[in-house]
Amino acid sequence: MTVVDQMSVTTSALEARNIVKRFDGVHALNGAQFEVRSGEIHALLGENGAGKSTLIKVLTGIYAPDAGTLRRNGEEVEFPNVRVANRAGVVALYQELSIIPTLSVAENILLGDQAPSRGGVVQWGAMRRRAREQLNRLHQKLPLGKLAGELSPVQQTMVAFARALATDAQIMILDEPTASLTDTEITELFKVLRSLRDEGVAIVYVSHRLEEVFELCDRLTIMRNGETIITKDVADSNIDEVISNMVGRPGGELYPERTTVTKEVAFAVEGLDGRRVKDVSFTAFKGEVLGIGGLAGSGRSELLRILSGAQKHSAGTISIGNKTLPNSPGVGRALDAGIALVPEERRTQGVILGTTIRDNIALANIPAVSSFGLVSNARISDIVGKGMGDLHIKARSQRQAVGELSGGNQQKVVLARC
Ligand SMILES: Nc1ncnc2c1ncn2[C@@H]1O[C@H](COP(=O)(O)OP(=O)(O)OP(=O)(O)O)[C@@H](O)[C@H]1O
Ligand SMILES: [Mg+2]
Repeated sequence: MTVVDQMSVTTSALEARNIVKRFDGVHALNGAQFEVRSGEIHALLGENGAGKSTLIKVLTGIYAPDAGTLRRNGEEVEFPNVRVANRAGVVALYQELSIIPTLSVAENILLGDQAPSRGGVVQWGAMRRRAREQLNRLHQKLPLGKLAGELSPVQQTMVAFARALATDAQIMILDEPTASLTDTEITELFKVLRSLRDEGVAIVYVSHRLEEVFELCDRLTIMRNGETIITKDVADSNIDEVISNMVGRPGGELYPERTTVTKEVAFAVEGLDGRRVKDVSFTAFKGEVLGIGGLAGSGRSELLRILSGAQKHSAGTISIGNKTLPNSPGVGRALDAGIALVPEERRTQGVILGTTIRDNIALANIPAVSSFGLVSNARISDIVGKGMGDLHIKARSQRQAVGELSGGNQQKVVLARC
């Protein structure tokens, strides 16, 4: 055995070599390489559709690769299903399917585990103790009897962590865990991830937020078009380098200069009052992206609901161009006036996953694609094609199911529909 072999045997907790995965001719993975070590937080990065989620699904037994091998602690393994991967200590945490809302915190943590019982009677005391132990490792004080569905998103994430720890996870994979968390919750999550790392857990962290990666992670791997471009220490890299490697050309910019803003007012809000919203005013110009910030509970979602017509306002005005919307216009009239809301929870409110891109975009635009009561296929093709082109949606065709797209591309379909 050479020195190099020995090193990789002793240090890598999980390794993927030359992984190939095709879907109907699309090379989602094209010889991808990945290696994560115990006691590190390893960022997995790449543009939308680069192959990150597919690689994770191979690492956790959801997909069988068409070619390539996996190694756990240096030994070749096969993960024909999620259970085998879990038993080998590999666990992925997905925001959407991580908890069962109608079960208690304790039950969620010990889910899949044999409930401790004596003479056929479940020992709730022992169960609660075991659940409590896992939460203590995470420095969390959650009420064990509370229904998980009543917890905040970060608390739900913590319950999912505790469950993984209860099954003795050695490698934890997180695919965009911070997408719906507030800053305070992210800080809390990072504390927990660091303490798990210090216990020797290997953590794989997928995120599009590069500042997070530089704050939290030890090493990074960048993917592009199903291939691994580079793996290196975060301390030896910088955001510019990461972006150029992600997009495949030098000089990628994080904050490109914006030249499209005009002085023409597109959207004006004046003295808006409503539930949780008090005296809000702002002006947005054409070609501008206007950020709305604030802590959780400060009224951001309520403001957006009022603007989209889904919630009433008691005072103030909303104008588009030089037209003022009537009070409480309703979603339909707000939409007709040109205001579309892209929801926070894209998987549940944004798209119909089993339906094609074409139908998702066209269904919401029936008037635009019909004339004399007839729906024109050519018009649909034009509108959908333009939407896909403008937003660089990566897909095989208009007729591909939205559920088969990468997460970021699903989100772009929601935008295209608007
Ligand atoms: N089940 C599937 N059927 C067909 N194509 C798929 C399927 N899953 C993924 N793909 C394709 O494989 C490619 C890689 O997708 P993947 O979801 O791995 O990207 P990603 O890096 O996670 O992107 P994102 O950052 O947008 O989540 C995409 O072109 C995607 O459309
Ligand atoms: Mg993804």
